[in-house]
Amino acid sequence: MLAEIIVKDDVVVDATMGQGFDTVFLAGLSDAVVAFDVQDLALEMTEKRLAENKRQAKLILDGHENVDKYVDKPIKAAIFNLGYLPKSDKKVITQAETTLPALTKMLELLVTGGRIALMIYYGHEGGHEERDAVLSVVSTLPQKTYQVMRYGGINQINQPPFLVMIEKLA
Ligand SMILES: C[S@@+](CC[C@H](N)C(=O)[O-])C[C@H]1O[C@@H](n2cnc3c(N)ncnc32)[C@H](O)[C@@H]1O
Repeated sequence: MLAEIIVKDDVVVDATMGQGFDTVFLAGLSDAVVAFDVQDLALEMTEKRLAENKRQAKLILDGHENVDKYVDKPIKAAIFNLGYLPKSDKKVITQAETTLPALTKMLELLVTGGRIALMIYYGHEGGHEERDAVLSVVSTLPQKTYQVMRYGGINQINQPPFLVMIEKLA
């Protein structure tokens, strides 16, 4: 869904760099990807993955809630992959008190026709609180301005992640 709308010059944000899979994906679509994470390890892994794939992106060791310090141009898309860095410290998780300000700032920067994807993993400690906080905000966005859709498996065991896709309509 993001690939449908992103072209080379679009400013695009990866709000949660992690192992760099999403950063590399976005960097294959745009030359202006900005990616955030609060862990050195995420930057190291993403730098390596970008080099292996001959892609480039601007990697920032800071919280996505500070996006406005680094991005002052309109953005076409953003992706949040909530939760913790796999195979790493499960205590370093995304949290509502930083995810929501980041989302609000990115909604302000989003162009009409732009999209923000939030992949919501919530099976870990603290995950339910963040899931509920995000859902309560996105479900009250005005429908004339934003289309907000939820996509998720309905036959999966445990606590399967789901996707919230926001599109700015006007
Ligand atoms: C589920 S992982 C992201 C996976 C990643 N998109 C990938 O392709 O591998 C979540 C990441 O969010 C990071 N994170 C936690 N709080 C953050 C914050 N305030 N700003 C930016 N990243 C944060 C964690 O360090 C972790 O690496």
